[in-house]
Amino acid sequence: MKSKLIFILALACACTGKTNNSESGEETTHSEDVKMEQYLVEGQKLYGIHCANCHQVKGEGLAQLFPPLAKSDYLLQNVDASICGVKNGMSGEITVNGTTYNQPMPGIPQLTNLELAEIFTYVTNSWGNNNGMITTERVEATLKECGE
Ligand code: HEC
Repeated sequence: MKSKLIFILALACACTGKTNNSESGEETTHSEDVKMEQYLVEGQKLYGIHCANCHQVKGEGLAQLFPPLAKSDYLLQNVDASICGVKNGMSGEITVNGTTYNQPMPGIPQLTNLELAEIFTYVTNSWGNNNGMITTERVEATLKECGE
């Protein structure tokens, strides 16, 4: 009896989600929209814990020390290198939106592929960035390329 009720509630919930998202007119299916929404929510939390100290809450960066992620030409052109950089660390000179940065970013090796997918979906789809979803499969393939 109880489990049937939960099932009906879950269904009702899924349908409400559908009407909310249907106006985008994009060719994504309903379940992809829901997944993207979840990634954005989780990604925002993880960003607050792991990244905002340096890159700031709105991804605007900090002076010459920490480059911006908002509308970062580097990030949007180097998503794979950025995923590797967050997992394993990044150092050496890079240019972001015409400004040169050269400060090492410590890696965060304990982040799982799912967490990285959520974080990167969030940062590449916030603050004016609009790059689409980053899947765990993409993260897994990317990390294989950059090794440990
Ligand atoms: C301790 C400070 C610090 C933390 C925490 C940090 N970063 Fe960075 N990040 C840096 C620095 C410094 C650079 C520049 C590295 C260089 O000069 O080679 C950088 C570079 C980057 C870049 C490439 C440059 C750009 O702006 O597009 C991305 C993307 C990035 N970080 C994302 C993240 C994400 C996502 C997180 C959280 C999971 C994170 N960083 C956490 C300091 C930090």
